[in-house]
Amino acid sequence: MTRWKYLLTAVVLAGLGAAYPTLTQRAPRQPIAFPHKLHLAAGMHCTDCHRDAAVSASAGLPSVRECALCHARIKTQSPMIRQVMAYAKRGEEIPWQRVYRYPKSAHVIFRHNMHIAAGLACGTCHGDLRHATTASVWKPLDMGVCIACHRQHGAKVECQACHD
Ligand code: HEC
Ligand code: HEC
Ligand code: HEC
Ligand code: HEC
Ligand code: HEC
Repeated sequence: MTRWKYLLTAVVLAGLGAAYPTLTQRAPRQPIAFPHKLHLAAGMHCTDCHRDAAVSASAGLPSVRECALCHARIKTQSPMIRQVMAYAKRGEEIPWQRVYRYPKSAHVIFRHNMHIAAGLACGTCHGDLRHATTASVWKPLDMGVCIACHRQHGAKVECQACHD
């Protein structure tokens, strides 16, 4: 999208008195109540499962095959683990609902790797998951949040830095 289209949209939104749309589903219902806290307490790191965060735009979610590597042996009697292993046996991914996501219409460019390289911890944006079961939106990562931190760190604030 070109800059003028954004300016136009911004003017229209302001005219309607509408706030910028925010991330909608704060805590979607997940197919399995995946406990972040138990895995973190067992000593796992965020990037053991969200492997791509340091090297690409998306952080990525683990495949059920990775869950099965451990759960073929760990907690096999648990009803939840039976469900996990049933997905794995069918060769079907667990249909996790996305938590943090922008509408396509917002044309947002976000890159995890740039932020990890700048030394920001996951918790700066996603909160502390040590007591969490499934993830929920900790704070809405709206445009104001992005820009406030960019100003603080001297990162880019031109429209084109974050929108295509
Ligand atoms: C540092 C990143 C960043 C910069 C710089 C930025 N934006 Fe945004 N903008 C966002 C994010 C993130 C959203 C989505 C917010 C949401 O959905 O909660 C957004 C949403 C918007 C939307 C709403 C789009 C929609 O349809 O949902 C408009 C309009 C917009 N920005 C215009 C601008 C303009 C104009 C500029 C330059 C003056 C600008 N933005 C600069 C990050 C940025
Ligand atoms: C500067 C803020 C920020 C930091 C730091 C950050 N994230 Fe994110 N994360 C986001 C935003 C914004 C989205 C939504 C991006 C989108 O939909 O385009 C997101 C999405 C995600 C997602 C879901 C989709 C995906 O594959 O990207 C996961 C998983 C995630 N982050 C994990 C992490 C982990 C793990 C870390 C630390 C290694 C981390 N994030 C650090 C802002 C951040
Ligand atoms: C590195 C090994 C490892 C991996 C990989 C792993 N887990 Fe776990 N998981 C554990 C451990 C350890 C526990 C805690 C067991 C305990 O409390 O005794 C656990 C507990 C659980 C529980 C709680 C079971 C219950 O009934 O309390 C669920 C559900 C679960 N894991 C699902 C998953 C899913 C889904 C994945 C893949 C996204 C996954 N795990 C990946 C090691 C792992
Ligand atoms: C054992 C694997 C595992 C570990 C370790 C793990 N996660 Fe997750 N994470 C998952 C799974 C599975 C989901 C999908 C279910 C959900 O949304 O909670 C998820 C979801 C998320 C989401 C929401 C993704 C979306 O849809 O927007 C974020 C953010 C996230 N994790 C951040 C983290 C952070 C930060 C850490 C480290 C403190 C971490 N995770 C550690 C497996 C893991
Ligand atoms: C907590 C601070 C913080 C937050 C929140 C944050 N950023 Fe950043 N962002 C940074 C820093 C620091 C850099 C790296 C600047 C550098 O390396 O020059 C960066 C870099 C970027 C870049 C690369 C710009 C370039 O140099 O081309 C993009 C794109 C970006 N951020 C988008 C976003 C969006 C979109 C959001 C909101 C969803 C966001 N950021 C939220 C701190 C933040």
